Amino acid sequence: MHVFKPEEKEKLPNHIAIIMDGNGRWARSRGKPRLFGHRKGVENVRSVVHTAREIGVPFITLYAFSQENQHRPKNEKSGLMKLLKEFLKKELKSMLRDGVRLRAIGDLKGLPDFARQAVEDTIEKTQKNNDWNLTLALNYGSRQEVLQAVESCIRDNDIDTKRLKWADFAKHLQTKDLPDPDLIIRTSGEYRLSNFLLLQSAYAEMFVSPLHWPDFNREAFLDALSHYIRRERRFGKTSEQIISLETSPSSL
Ligand code: FPP
Repeated sequence: MHVFKPEEKEKLPNHIAIIMDGNGRWARSRGKPRLFGHRKGVENVRSVVHTAREIGVPFITLYAFSQENQHRPKNEKSGLMKLLKEFLKKELKSMLRDGVRLRAIGDLKGLPDFARQAVEDTIEKTQKNNDWNLTLALNYGSRQEVLQAVESCIRDNDIDTKRLKWADFAKHLQTKDLPDPDLIIRTSGEYRLSNFLLLQSAYAEMFVSPLHWPDFNREAFLDALSHYIRRERRFGKTSEQIISLETSPSSL
């Protein structure tokens, strides 16, 4: 089993957001339908979320369905929605046992009623949990989210829209209750954000794995974290400033 040393544990990300790519290719390479890949993908969601909890990463956000995915064939979309409902039904017990709070970002109105209902029910039933945080991006698109946030800011009389501060604007994003992601993982070897958390990931580290999502197992996930903890996050500062901040936090 992979064990992080205490000084490594301190450097683990607080929030990991994952673009789970490659279910279709994984299935095709086995001569199976795309939905077979998505089903395997859901099994992998369980394993990765479990590992994140075990090692102490409190926030996980998964890109489960983008607004652009609405253009996929009807049977794939309805298959994904059924998998989503099945996943939530199966996981509710363990979410309640383990203190996992479910949230969703995205336009839930664009989901079929049965899926939206399942998401909303699970959000409601887990809303008092605060040990672990699982967020599903469903019918989500970052640009659409930003437009909504702008509209919402304009309607907000307490905001001075001529002197807008990021912190005030961020309260209007769907991620207002979440910390910014520290690490974005994308599987399947693609180097793209695909309209996912574009503003929130301003300072996130990126890790791209060549593995398709169903193959991105516990070891691969832990390997991504091992890479992450070795990175130096500078947030626009110099390396020297970061080192002096670490040795003497009052020096900046
Ligand atoms: C990308 O693979 C994956 C998706 C569009 C959906 C991801 C969804 C799941 C893993 C299952 C649902 C999730 C939950 C939390 C229940 P792709 O189909 O684009 O793969 P390809 O690029 O190889 O075609």
